[in-house]
Amino acid sequence: MSALLEVRGLVRSFGGVRALDGVGFEVEEGEIRAVIGPNGAGKTTLLDVITGLTRPEQGSVRFQGRSILGLPPHRLPALGLMRTFQAARLVPSLTVLENVALGAHHQVRSRFLSAGLRLPRARREEAALRERAERVLAFLGLAHLGRRRAGDLPAGLQRLVEVGRALAGGPRLLLLDEPAAGLDESETRALAETLVAVRESGCTITVIEHNVGLVMAVSDRVLVLDAGAVIADGPPERVRREPAVLEAYLGGAG
Ligand SMILES: Nc1ncnc2c1ncn2[C@@H]1O[C@H](COP(=O)(O)OP(=O)(O)OP(=O)(O)O)[C@@H](O)[C@H]1O
Ligand SMILES: [Mg+2]
Repeated sequence: MSALLEVRGLVRSFGGVRALDGVGFEVEEGEIRAVIGPNGAGKTTLLDVITGLTRPEQGSVRFQGRSILGLPPHRLPALGLMRTFQAARLVPSLTVLENVALGAHHQVRSRFLSAGLRLPRARREEAALRERAERVLAFLGLAHLGRRRAGDLPAGLQRLVEVGRALAGGPRLLLLDEPAAGLDESETRALAETLVAVRESGCTITVIEHNVGLVMAVSDRVLVLDAGAVIADGPPERVRREPAVLEAYLGGAG
């Protein structure tokens, strides 16, 4: 059986910089897959290519056996692929609940017209979206924030709300870009528990993360990037001992 996500030979340059220089990896159904690496290693560019925000010069991306390269980003949620951003991209003027509900919008069939006229089906769908968003917020332990204006929350919490928005879409694969940045220790522990619970609910996770403690605690396999290339890939306890990884993290400091 093929992997849920298969990435092969990605190359993407920005001017003279090879942000991705032949990156390949796989995500198996049901795993928590971490992606780590020093600043500028190409982690975010990798997610951008997978989610159609950036075109690679070479390589392939297959999700559930089908090529998704070249698909516009807005088509991906309906296929079961949702992501979050390193700097959260919520609608600041909407409430937290409304932002989370936005994540499920691709599942709603009502046209604007019927929504505008408040026809019964549109009203039912709106209520279902709201209920779903409330459930997701409760799952994340953020129910108390539902009525707050998203733009008023600190950056760390905005990132968590964005995780909620992605979950509301019922993804098969959730891609997270540094969800623990800006969280304190207890919030990070809660996030770790959330990720494990998400996985138990049947959703596969790929998470870019700088917090090595979090990575070691929750991930099944770790992909290590440095300067656009894969320098290690395997279970966390093995990867953390690889000389190339130690060199990438400590080399510059020594
Ligand atoms: N839009 C862009 N234009 C020019 N250069 C870019 C662009 N996006 C990324 N780069 C460059 O590509 C390289 C990889 O960047 P990327 O953001 O993918 O790294 P990262 O691993 O996510 O780093 P960080 O840990 O700091 O988030 C860097 O050298 C960066 O400056
Ligand atoms: Mg990044």
